[in-house]
Amino acid sequence: MFISILITIGIVAGIGGFLALLLIIAESTLANYGECTIMINEKKELKVKGGSSLLNILNNNKIFLSSACGGRGSCGFCKCKVIEGGGPLLPTETPFLEEDEKKNNVRLACQVKVKQDIKIKIPADIFAVQEFTGKVIKIQDLTYDIKEITIELTKPKEIEFQAGQFVQFVAPRYEKSRQPVTRAYSISSSPDNKDYIKLIIKKVPDGLCTTYIHEYLKEGDTVIFTGPFGDFIIKDTQNDMVFIAGGSGKAPIISMLEYLNTHGSKRRLVYFFGARTKKDLYLTELFEKLEKELKDFTYVPTLSQPEENSDWKGKTGYIMAYLKEYIKDGAETEAYLCGSPGMIDAVQKKLVAIKISEDNIFYDSFN
Ligand SMILES: Cc1cc2nc3c(=O)[nH]c(=O)nc-3n(C[C@H](O)[C@H](O)[C@H](O)COP(=O)(O)OP(=O)(O)OC[C@H]3O[C@@H](n4cnc5c(N)ncnc54)[C@H](O)[C@@H]3O)c2cc1C
Ligand code: FES
Repeated sequence: MFISILITIGIVAGIGGFLALLLIIAESTLANYGECTIMINEKKELKVKGGSSLLNILNNNKIFLSSACGGRGSCGFCKCKVIEGGGPLLPTETPFLEEDEKKNNVRLACQVKVKQDIKIKIPADIFAVQEFTGKVIKIQDLTYDIKEITIELTKPKEIEFQAGQFVQFVAPRYEKSRQPVTRAYSISSSPDNKDYIKLIIKKVPDGLCTTYIHEYLKEGDTVIFTGPFGDFIIKDTQNDMVFIAGGSGKAPIISMLEYLNTHGSKRRLVYFFGARTKKDLYLTELFEKLEKELKDFTYVPTLSQPEENSDWKGKTGYIMAYLKEYIKDGAETEAYLCGSPGMIDAVQKKLVAIKISEDNIFYDSFN
């Protein structure tokens, strides 16, 4: 009885797999959508071969929409308005779209397939995003699982960006990835240095891009990235600023602090860096230097699980416990958070509870 159930399941699964394979082959060989026109912002017209995602086609035409997940439909970054010709909204898109976005024809460009003439609207600043080629001039271990990569720009030779923005790094096809993958990485260097960028990259177990960067990328290699992207930038006020970011979330915060330092900021600044043990702390000397140079900056590294017998004399536990101590009552305070979605959500709730206005909380979620 049990064997015959197993055989039946096997046959049904086999037929299902065979039909799926047939569909994929039919889609790639028989479906011919011919030449399609993409009309962008009622101004620019592209004649393209139909059949690929809108995101890929725009990329191939050097129009780089933001896409932190490389087109897998898991980041929700590649939004654009599809006025005509995008087909029905897909279930893969709805979790990323607010109700008013759905009503206003906002779509995920990686999920929209170009099968006919299509009209789209994208923000004008997307046209400023460029593709860069660079040479890796330095790879440095910051901790056991975080590396800093310095890339000198070769073409074009300079980049304009704002502190806090990110680039999309392209890891080429290699033995653990059958195709190139694109992932978002925040620039950790200051925008005042235009001829190179630094990235701070944490190894994710079995992660396609981070395995490439940690185990295959070498000094002297040529790399490609697009950018700059993102609106996680310093607001132009004199408000106090609180930074909260652990792990590689430190990257955009370093860029912001370096920028504030060289531009003579007089704002009151506090950075809470949550780590597990002393082994997870890095670039401590840089922050000590910034504490001396900036007018009013405090660095608060906090260890949640310091080793037994550790000589750690700093704060322990979770940073949430210390926020109130450093945030001045009644002051207008902006909070800049960077890290996992779970961390951002928890910290955001705590900040609201201690009366930081939701409008003054800015973040980049490393989803
Ligand atoms: C705006 C933005 C800026 C970013 N900036 C940085 C940065 O400066 N430095 C940096 O290191 N990363 C940054 N990230 C994260 C980065 O884009 C990648 O998601 C990350 O490096 C994993 O890529 P991967 O290809 O190695 O892993 P993938 O192959 O994409 O993932 C492999 C598996 O690991 C899981 N996974 C993915 N990320 C994590 C994680 N962080 N922890 C645990 N599991 C995970 C996935 O769910 C998947 O199952 C940023 C993300 C965004 C959206
Ligand atoms: S590129 Fe990530 S959802 Fe489209």
